[in-house]
Amino acid sequence: ERVAVVGVPMDLGAGRRGVDMGPSALRYARLLEELEALGYLVEDLGDVRVPVAETLRGRKGPYLEEIRQAALDLKERLRALPEGVFPIVLGGDHSLSMGSVSGVAKGRLGVIWVDAHADFNTPETSPSGNIHGMPLAVLSGLGYTRLTEVFQAVDPRDVVLIGVRSLDPGERRLLREMGVRVYTMHEVDRLGIARIAEEALAYLDGLPLHVSLDADVLDPTLAPGVGTPVPGGLTYREAHLLMEILAQTGRVRSLDLVEVNPILDERNRTAEMMVGLALSLLGKRIL
Ligand code: ARG
Ligand code: MN
Ligand code: MN
Ligand code: MN
Repeated sequence: ERVAVVGVPMDLGAGRRGVDMGPSALRYARLLEELEALGYLVEDLGDVRVPVAETLRGRKGPYLEEIRQAALDLKERLRALPEGVFPIVLGGDHSLSMGSVSGVAKGRLGVIWVDAHADFNTPETSPSGNIHGMPLAVLSGLGYTRLTEVFQAVDPRDVVLIGVRSLDPGERRLLREMGVRVYTMHEVDRLGIARIAEEALAYLDGLPLHVSLDADVLDPTLAPGVGTPVPGGLTYREAHLLMEILAQTGRVRSLDLVEVNPILDERNRTAEMMVGLALSLLGKRIL
C-alpha cells in the first residue's frame, strides 16, 4: 500500500505565526519512517509553495488570494495522485483543508472533522476574520465566493464534527441550518468516544472518508503546540481509540494533520502526538 505525504507550510489563515513550521515538525517526529515500519511504501512529495508571511508585511490580511492559491496547488497535487494512494497532508493552518478535501472528493465523500472548533464561520459570522476558522463552511458552499467557486466539495450533511468545544454564535446557527452533525465534548463525556465513532460511521454509511485532524482537539496538556488552545479536550486514549475504530472500517482514504505550532510546543510533543494518531489511523496495532 502506498502513502503520499505533502506539506503545506502555511500560517496565513491563522491569527498568529508558527504553524508554517508544522510540516517540518511532523517529519522530524518520524512520520515517514514509522509508516515505512508499518509496511507502507511512502513517498514525500515535498511542500506546496506558500508565500512567507514577512514578504507580505504592510499588506493587511486576510490573505485571501495567497491562501486560495496555496490550497488550489494542494488540490491539483492530490488530484494528480494515482488511485489507491493514501495522501497525508501536513499543515499548516486548517485553511489548507479546502484544498485537501476538494482534492480527494471524487463524488460523495464523508468528512470527519476532529477539532475543538467547527471552522464553520463566514466573513459575516467570524469574530476574528481568520480564514482558518472558515474552511469547513467553504467546503459546504458558504463564505467568500473566491473560495467557494473552487473549493465547494461536500454536502454538509455528509460532515461529522467530533470534539467541538468552542463555537462562535453565528457559526452555531449556520451549523444547525446546514445540518452538520456535531459531537461536542459534552457528548464525548456522556456517550464515550467509541459510541460516537460508531454512530458517525453508521451515519456516513458506506461513504469513503476523509479525516481532518486539528491538533487543538487534544487536551492542551497533551498538545500545547497549538495557536488556539481550548481546555477540556480529548485524552490520549480517546484520541487513539477514535483513530483505531476509524481504521478498522477500511473506509478512510485521506488524512490532514493540521495546526501544529512548533513555536508554542514543548520539545515537539504535539507533533509526536499527531504522528502517533496517524499511525493508529493507518493500522498500527500492539498485537
Ligand atoms: N472560531 C474561531 C475563529 O473563527 C477560531 C477558529 C480556530 N480554527 C482553527 N483551525 N484552529 O477565529
Ligand atoms: Mn481547525
Ligand atoms: Mn481548531
Ligand atoms: Mn494505538
